[in-house]
Amino acid sequence: MTDWKHRHILDLATFSLEDYATVLGLANRFKSLPLTGARKLPALQGKLVATLFFEPSTRTRSSFELAARCLSADVQSFSPKSSSLTKGETALDTALTYIAMGADILVIRHSSANVPSQLVNSLEALNEQTAVLNGGDGLRSHPSQGLLDLFTLASYFNQNNPLPGALKDKTIVIIGDILHSRVARSNLWALTACGANVVLCGPPSLLPEEFTEFVNSPPPGILKDPINKRGKIRIIRSLKEALSEADAIMTLRLQKERMRENLLTDLDRYHLDYGINNESLKYCKQRVPILHPGPVNRGIEISGSILSDRSICLIEKQVRNGIPIRMALLYLMSAVTGNKNTINFT
Ligand code: CP
Repeated sequence: MTDWKHRHILDLATFSLEDYATVLGLANRFKSLPLTGARKLPALQGKLVATLFFEPSTRTRSSFELAARCLSADVQSFSPKSSSLTKGETALDTALTYIAMGADILVIRHSSANVPSQLVNSLEALNEQTAVLNGGDGLRSHPSQGLLDLFTLASYFNQNNPLPGALKDKTIVIIGDILHSRVARSNLWALTACGANVVLCGPPSLLPEEFTEFVNSPPPGILKDPINKRGKIRIIRSLKEALSEADAIMTLRLQKERMRENLLTDLDRYHLDYGINNESLKYCKQRVPILHPGPVNRGIEISGSILSDRSICLIEKQVRNGIPIRMALLYLMSAVTGNKNTINFT
């Protein structure tokens, strides 16, 4: 069906335009299927998907598990607090334990960047075939979130054909705590690959100047950017100026758990300067969609009234789209690991 080459998915920096089109196209097909009760697809029958979340999660973990079940996989989850981590076992040894129990695909989240890539190195050294999917590592990367955000935006701009081309020449304004956001980093790879221009908006403490060069510094091991021409990244500090250019807004959670020092003492001030509410939306040239990866700090990044306005707030759509996007990723990865259960959509 496709010449998908990514055995593991650690980062979107390695994705070509064809890769984005494959994931979005497949997700769009999965989205149209009623996958409840007995109507599951057999694609991952006999496969074991293990979800190893060393950091808390509501959306990512549950939607990977639902996605795996929709494809008839067996699912094994893991709870750090009741695991042998409490006896000193390392994350890597925990992952290897699940692989020894037969995991074919391992979805992993960890507060330290690079734990998923270290796991991949260990698997390669051991000649193990298990595929690794990064469910979020430290500040570095959250590829499935970047893809579901891309799918949500593409569906908004072109409902009938939600493919990467729908983003071309759009201006997406990303607001807030970009420094601590792996979601922002994955979105920067995805959006610029699809030809969108990104405006970053936030205070210097949460948005250092060097972010304009982000996509010029790929992660180690990537010798050549798979994208010929990326959209541009600019920083605009003033929310008013930034919003005046927006075709879509993505606002981000203040990640207090990742701040080494208290960077924000006055959250009311933050909402006045960078919050999305009925007042700040008047700066936009038109009615624009609003995304937030969740979880939301209500009344800080975004007001309660905007959160309940589903005509512009796409958060619920982002969550829904998480399932078909994650089905697409699991399906494509299982094809690389030798799954013969292809799907006939006709
Ligand atoms: N967006 C996101 O990663 O949410 P969770 O932490 O709930 O998975």
